[in-house]
Amino acid sequence: MAEAVRIDGKAAAAELRASVGGCVADLKARHGVTPGLAVVLVGDDPASQVYVRNKGKATHEAGMASFEFRLSAGATQAEVLAQVAALNADAAVDGVLVQLPLPGHIDETAIIDATDPEKDVDGLHVANIGRLVTGRPALVPCTPSGCMVLIRKHVPDLVGKRAIVVGRSHLVGKPIAQLLLAAHCTVTIAHSRTRDLAGECRRADILIAAVGKPEMIRGDWIKPGATVIDVGINRVPGEGGKSKLVGDVAFDEAVSVAGAITPVPGGVGPMTIASLLRNTLIAACRRRGLADPDV
Ligand code: GUN
Repeated sequence: MAEAVRIDGKAAAAELRASVGGCVADLKARHGVTPGLAVVLVGDDPASQVYVRNKGKATHEAGMASFEFRLSAGATQAEVLAQVAALNADAAVDGVLVQLPLPGHIDETAIIDATDPEKDVDGLHVANIGRLVTGRPALVPCTPSGCMVLIRKHVPDLVGKRAIVVGRSHLVGKPIAQLLLAAHCTVTIAHSRTRDLAGECRRADILIAAVGKPEMIRGDWIKPGATVIDVGINRVPGEGGKSKLVGDVAFDEAVSVAGAITPVPGGVGPMTIASLLRNTLIAACRRRGLADPDV
């Protein structure tokens, strides 16, 4: 059988970012509005620093205002809450994102609860999760909405398709299951206690891997021709003492079985920031009573 189509997340993300940029220019010209995104980083985790820098750069490139706030690793919960409250009250800020994970002494749920749901561009506030589940206009978590963009490109008709989501995190597994359900897929959510996981996966036309276990999903777990979306980003030892990134799917095996598959890196990863920009634009429009942008 022919090798799977490699789903190009970099190209899809560039397309989405350009489309957001066009809408931002339009919003400025017609309404004098510049959407603003505020990112809060607590502590000095190197990976989070890279993410935050990349978010700031992408925000500027889309024509939006970017605000960055850095708090020390020793910042108290009250200090982080005060920062979030100030951003909730700041009219120039449409989106508030507190980079996760937070240092262990800070209660992440309390920080998410304190974020104004209308500015919750991570889509993690219970109000947004409730809206998503009940089919109301929500701010949807970024990685899942990016996955849906990739899926729709390769599977134009989702109605009745069997989808399996391996992983049940709040950030990815649960929201993507809701998005697939809303798109009329028949959805299975699998996890560490699922019996016969390989058999469950083999029935799926669309497989979403979001477990954070390097190459756990093997080639012979995949239905021939299925669309495989690999959300995993795992650093493992590579050749010559260097480390390398692998997904949750054994790519070299899966590529000869699947119909289409996202590589790691260059698949789902780039979509997250593009979706964040889209959410910021949507929040900016909704907060002013304007129609949702066409992105
Ligand atoms: N850390 C890793 N991914 C994310 C994300 O999507 N949002 C936030 N806030 N932190 C993250």
